[in-house]
Amino acid sequence: MKRVITYGTFDLLHYGHIRLLKRAKALGDYLIVACSTEELNAFKGKTSYHPYEERKAMLEAIRYVDLVIPESKWDQKTHDVQYYDVDVFTIGDDWEGEFDYLKEYCDVVYLPRTEGISTTKIRQDLEKTNI
Ligand code: CTP
Repeated sequence: MKRVITYGTFDLLHYGHIRLLKRAKALGDYLIVACSTEELNAFKGKTSYHPYEERKAMLEAIRYVDLVIPESKWDQKTHDVQYYDVDVFTIGDDWEGEFDYLKEYCDVVYLPRTEGISTTKIRQDLEKTNI
């Protein structure tokens, strides 16, 4: 059983997220998603539209996702990788190089982001169109 882990906020779930999760699952057999909590978002100075419990429930409904855990601390990754016996850490290539320190414990794979879509873009577009 090859275990994969990925991290993100996954707010206003969109096609870029789904493509990321599909490719993440394809790197192994079991996909863990660490979803950022309100606490972590506050630390990053971000506010999500959907609260953590709702983002978690949506992620759990996706066929590629086997387990959702909270990401409440920026520096919990080394612990998670060891605790969940992770083989592959993956994330979008907007984070290229950022998590290379995890190579001591597992493979690290940066996946190309999907062009033209992001939570930020959805927010901005909806604001413009006044929906
Ligand atoms: N992601 C992706 N392609 C996109 C958007 C996101 O592959 N177009 C990936 C990110 O690289 C990350 C994961 O999806 O690995 C979760 O990203 P997240 O930050 O939650 O989504 P964004 O849409 O990038 O959100 P924001 O605009 O707030 O940065």
